[in-house]
Amino acid sequence: MKPISIIISSLPPNASSEPARNLAEPKDTPFTSAELAKFDGTDPKGPIYVAIKGTIFDVTEKRDFYGLGGSYHAFAGKDASKGLATSTLEDVSGDYSSLNESQLKTLDNWYSYFEQRYNIVGKVIS
Ligand code: HEM
Repeated sequence: MKPISIIISSLPPNASSEPARNLAEPKDTPFTSAELAKFDGTDPKGPIYVAIKGTIFDVTEKRDFYGLGGSYHAFAGKDASKGLATSTLEDVSGDYSSLNESQLKTLDNWYSYFEQRYNIVGKVIS
């Protein structure tokens, strides 16, 4: 397992200090983008999902980040691949075909970060 400090070297130290925890068996339930969009944190009690490279993570426990008014609400209910890879909240899209090698590496590091923290609840199918 890679050290998390490499993955999120641009973030404050407490982002990397959270221990890995027990996760459920990954699910491959299919979601269209429109279905995924329902889990965008708008509902204050509903689950919140973020996808990376088509894999959907349940980030509900970090409602402060991803819920309404949260710093990373822009990623909620979406495939956030491009935004994560290029460190922006302004260009959130699942199309990562234009990324360079270093951005793809950043994206893979984010994938590992999420994979170590959040349950996988499905896959984006379109
Ligand atoms: C001024 C710039 C920024 C500051 C001060 C900042 C600060 C933080 C802080 C404090 C955390 C939470 C650490 C924790 O308690 O776990 C965090 C996590 C995070 N940041 Fe940033 N950030 C900045 C910019 C960005 C940008 C541009 C992106 C876009 C990719 C980004 C993506 C994330 C993500 C995805 C997380 C992880 C949330 C999680 O654990 O699920 N940040 N950031």
